[in-house]
Amino acid sequence: MKLTLKIWRQKNAQAKGQMVTYPIDGIDGDMSFLEMMDVLNNELINKGDDPVVFDHDCREGICGSCSMFINGEAHGPDRLVTTCQLHMRKFKDGDTITIEPFRAGGFPVIKDLMVDRSAFDRIQHAGGFISINTSGNTQDANAIPIEKADADAAFDAATCIGCGACVASCKNSSAMLFVSAKVSQFSLLPQGKVEATDRVMNMVKQMDEEGFGNCTNTGACEVECPKGISLENIARMNREYLSASVKG
Ligand code: SF4
Ligand code: FES
Repeated sequence: MKLTLKIWRQKNAQAKGQMVTYPIDGIDGDMSFLEMMDVLNNELINKGDDPVVFDHDCREGICGSCSMFINGEAHGPDRLVTTCQLHMRKFKDGDTITIEPFRAGGFPVIKDLMVDRSAFDRIQHAGGFISINTSGNTQDANAIPIEKADADAAFDAATCIGCGACVASCKNSSAMLFVSAKVSQFSLLPQGKVEATDRVMNMVKQMDEEGFGNCTNTGACEVECPKGISLENIARMNREYLSASVKG
């Protein structure tokens, strides 16, 4: 395939960025989107130009780092995949592909397509964990009975990879889908109930401090989430937050 790539180039956080056009040839439909970007970068390096900076690590849909906005959609036109799992067969010979970073106030651009998503880490630090007694008297988690429906919903919530596609897709740059998944994965389980009140209050406070917007139930986050995280998690977090606020 021959393609035309229009890519956001920005030297650093302070610099003014711009779209730059690159023609590319010899792209196979079996390549992943990141492999296509590797081909481009090899060409740029061979010409002595600056390669396009983008985040990637696992290249198998686990780490959540390959944040790219492709033709106006987080992780591109396919559903339930990350950019590293997107195949070039989703595009046609002669296509023009627009590639931008995830844009949100809470995700400042570091360089080109790489954004700073450490706001998510700070939200996790605010309460996205359970405290475990490691004195030797710890109860075996497998010995605690849990309803199948609750276990399934908790596991589904735990599949969130913290990619930030929900924020990038939301017109309000809301992080509610991410935060609600991190709250839900614990709130449904007995182990998570002990710190549930502090967890939801602290994580929502940190989310607000990081400058993410409010949820207005548009649902774009759920559509673009590569892990299919459900809006039900947001409803659950709102209930948890209300009940925690009443408890004070
Ligand atoms: S909820 Fe989905 S889109 Fe948002 S960070 Fe988690 S995996 Fe990514
Ligand atoms: S590189 Fe890890 S999810 Fe894409």
